[in-house]
Amino acid sequence: MIKIIKTIAVVLLLGSLNLSAQVKVPVYLDDTKSIQERVEDALSRMTVEEKVGMVHAQSKFSSAGVPRLGIPEIWMSDGPHGVRPEVLWDEWSQAGWTNDSCFAFPALTCLAATWNKDISLLYGKSVGEEARFRNKTVLLGPGVNIYRTPLNGRNFEYMGEDPYLSSKMVVPYIKGVQSNGVATCVKHFALNNQEVDRDKVNVNVDDRALYEIYLPAFKAAVQEGGTWAIMGSYNLYKNEQCCHNQYLLNDILRKEWGFEGVVISDWGGAHNTLQSISNGLDMEYGTWAPGMAWGKTNNYDNYFLAKPYLAMIKSGEIGTKELDEKVRRILRLEFLTNMNKNRPFGAMVSEDHVLAGRKIAEEGIVLLQNKNNVLPIDLSKTKRIAVIGENAIKMMTVGGGSSSLKAKYEVSPLDGLKKRAGAQTEIIYARGYVGDASSEADGYSTGQDLKETRSADELIAEACNVAKNADYVIFVGGLNKSEHQDSEGADRLGLGLPYSQDKLISELAKVNKNLVVVSISGNAVAMPWVNEVPAIIQGWFLGSEAGNAIAAVLVGDVNPSGKLPFTFPVKLEDNGAIALGEYPGSNGQVTYNEGIFVGYRWNEKQKIKPLFSFGYGLSYTTFEYGKVTSDKKEIADSDKITFTVSIKNTGAREGSEIVQLYISDLKSSLPRPVKELKGFEKVSLKAGEEKAVSITIDKAALSYFDPDKHSWVAEPGDFEASIGSSSSDIKGKVAFKLK
Ligand code: BGC
Repeated sequence: MIKIIKTIAVVLLLGSLNLSAQVKVPVYLDDTKSIQERVEDALSRMTVEEKVGMVHAQSKFSSAGVPRLGIPEIWMSDGPHGVRPEVLWDEWSQAGWTNDSCFAFPALTCLAATWNKDISLLYGKSVGEEARFRNKTVLLGPGVNIYRTPLNGRNFEYMGEDPYLSSKMVVPYIKGVQSNGVATCVKHFALNNQEVDRDKVNVNVDDRALYEIYLPAFKAAVQEGGTWAIMGSYNLYKNEQCCHNQYLLNDILRKEWGFEGVVISDWGGAHNTLQSISNGLDMEYGTWAPGMAWGKTNNYDNYFLAKPYLAMIKSGEIGTKELDEKVRRILRLEFLTNMNKNRPFGAMVSEDHVLAGRKIAEEGIVLLQNKNNVLPIDLSKTKRIAVIGENAIKMMTVGGGSSSLKAKYEVSPLDGLKKRAGAQTEIIYARGYVGDASSEADGYSTGQDLKETRSADELIAEACNVAKNADYVIFVGGLNKSEHQDSEGADRLGLGLPYSQDKLISELAKVNKNLVVVSISGNAVAMPWVNEVPAIIQGWFLGSEAGNAIAAVLVGDVNPSGKLPFTFPVKLEDNGAIALGEYPGSNGQVTYNEGIFVGYRWNEKQKIKPLFSFGYGLSYTTFEYGKVTSDKKEIADSDKITFTVSIKNTGAREGSEIVQLYISDLKSSLPRPVKELKGFEKVSLKAGEEKAVSITIDKAALSYFDPDKHSWVAEPGDFEASIGSSSSDIKGKVAFKLK
């Protein structure tokens, strides 16, 4: 009897619990409710301490949720080329996990060089899946700071010199990542175009350059990509730190563009409590402030937006309006990510990621020169290939700063070529030069031992000896991810190749006429030997599949189709900022006196012939452009105009061409660039095939930013559309008028 009563009691109790649970699901946990309602409900349940707890970090890469309410912690990770290995709670060194190896995707310069929006979507979706699998809320990337000079150590993490190209390429990346319920954090907003003095340099830039060159990719990321987060930059603008900057964050980002997402400080980019409260910052990360010690626990309480903020609220010095706004935005991020029950589960180093990484790498590689069609290598006629150079063996996924990865695997160019060549063709290797023999970043080592004791002359002699008896010589050099190369925290010291590579290349060219230079870098380099070398390939940092992708291009499994996302100047002084002495600035100030004339805009204005132009890249086949036509001769304010050209593959093999549309304003009341990229289309053609390519633009493509009116203006009058295969190889033009 007692047993029966007990059972009935338990059933009743469970029933009532169940019932109450059903009746009382709080609004913030009810996903049939709108995000706005859920945000307001959650906010109304939180104490001031809990709110302050959300607006600053609690470890190197995380911030607190609200444990009492079951609102999860927020976890972030770099970004942008793969998911960074775990570091210790309080320090940059490795946490030593054994399950945090990722797939390394190619660097963003390579992605930009594909000029392929579908490939950008694939990139974002894939890297987002890795972030999701690793339970990250926010992926710290992509970066879209404009390539202002070839010296910026972080150019490899960005998308080149052109605001239109980077705007078009950033949007699909964001959509791809966020389709996983992981936020992108587009960085570094804004004007972070050099690493020298990055945390203390104030950038003086006129409004035209700001709006026409430096902001468009961020605006596209917000308005077209719908990014859920943005990272402030280290530098200053109008003498205010960009991480809490009234003009950039409140006026432009929020008021002008309507950004609803979260602004995250760069690591250590916040410097002041009151400005952090008032000037648009939502989450403070990485602060190193007086009174803090390395590894001391609860450093985070001393953050500008921690105890000092709470104290100001408690003393009545400041209200909670700003705090509520910040927390609203963070809660919104939570509902879109961690608290979105429908988000997928992600995947790590999946077969799909390998294929995606390889495809991105293959499409981004740029063939810069191919005299006498020395490439592709016909393996059936090739007995011996000499591979020379440190970058043929050096792992490049480790180093470079915050984008350093712990890749599950990385195929070196040497191994990729060996695998592809098989037993028929002998591959012999010589080091040729010693660059940076180190193999470690943040306590993670590649395990490679690159120590070398021979002198430079001995290495050159050995390389030439190996090279002279080979059918082909593949020199793999360029830059690497060490300080003053392609790396965060410092800039390059010059345009030239380091480690006496120029001398080595010239010597190799003397002993073998079939020399191919594969330059691994995220930046332009000087090529004084350009006329001595028949073939040159721009190889970027290609990630896990690097060697396979390079081999595929060298032997012609893949027909190269990438085009340069930035200008290669002949010499450093051909770059506008450098020519005007406006880099890296002095006394904490840098002035962008070149204004809107960045990259090819400068070369064209000054009539300086570059080594390789923006938009340039060759193929193993040839394309013939037909006559360019337009559907109208004159357009009105609200019209669109379409330009069409037929492209024929006139070679013997399939290939892809990137058709580029540039617009020139023939007469304008303000100075304008000779022409500007306003459209592009990548088209794949079989041998002999011909296709018509159409590109449509509207008034926005004709506009400039008028600083007096503070708005975009398209002046009626004569315009010209140029269609070309690069910025310097225009195939046809059409004149038209804006009424
Ligand atoms: C970099 C950011 C990065 C952050 C976190 C900073 O030094 O500038 O790009 O996301 O560190 O690692």
